[in-house]
Amino acid sequence: MLNAYAGIGGNRHLWPAEWSVTAVELDPRVAAEYARRYPQDRVLVEDAHEFVMKHAEDYDAVWTSPPCPTHSRLAINVAKRKGIEPEPDPRLWVEVEYLREYGGRYVVENVHTYYTPPVLPDLVTERHYYWMSNPPAMIAPFHSAFRLRASTTAAQYAEAYGLPPLTPGSVPDQRMAMRNAVVPVEGLQVALAAFEPRQVSLDSELPTLAGVV
Ligand SMILES: C[S@@+](CC[C@H](N)C(=O)[O-])C[C@H]1O[C@@H](n2cnc3c(N)ncnc32)[C@H](O)[C@@H]1O
Repeated sequence: MLNAYAGIGGNRHLWPAEWSVTAVELDPRVAAEYARRYPQDRVLVEDAHEFVMKHAEDYDAVWTSPPCPTHSRLAINVAKRKGIEPEPDPRLWVEVEYLREYGGRYVVENVHTYYTPPVLPDLVTERHYYWMSNPPAMIAPFHSAFRLRASTTAAQYAEAYGLPPLTPGSVPDQRMAMRNAVVPVEGLQVALAAFEPRQVSLDSELPTLAGVV
């Protein structure tokens, strides 16, 4: 599996141990923290966009989490405050288009965009949009044991998401790294749907149902 823009790996935390994962992360400190958490993964410190566009087809399945700052509702508020025109980073849309076209197993994850997405997401959860192969109709929602707010610390995020805490002093902005993480139970459900679609078609299920009825 290719895990591009790997961050601290919230999305991959519960992935089955038999999946062999290559992670790509540009920030060396974040990559080092990822490597500490998932020592079995191959970790590359390089540009994930270039890597996806060059190598996606070498993998059985691809997950990409392009950075969200230019797409989020926060981006539009910051731009308005500064009196500038917001400019969504087009690499998200290049990856969505490319991975939809290539016909393999994939997930592109991002936040809810402040603008109407040019390609409608296949799955929408409380925090995320997903463009993906084999989208499920729904997934079990994540419920935090406590309310997450502006004052929630990195350690509290870790507890709410079910992630191990960050190594002290490892990444520059611990709260941001945790907040950016996909909740592991969501990362597992989305990845299983996209990467391990059940090999059962309606055709093969119908006779069974007919037999029961
Ligand atoms: C939304 S976070 C990833 C969250 C991750 N999927 C998780 O669940 O924990 C995006 C990550 O992409 C990294 N990043 C930003 N630009 C990048 C690039 N061009 N190539 C690789 N990584 C990049 C950031 O440092 C950040 O860690």
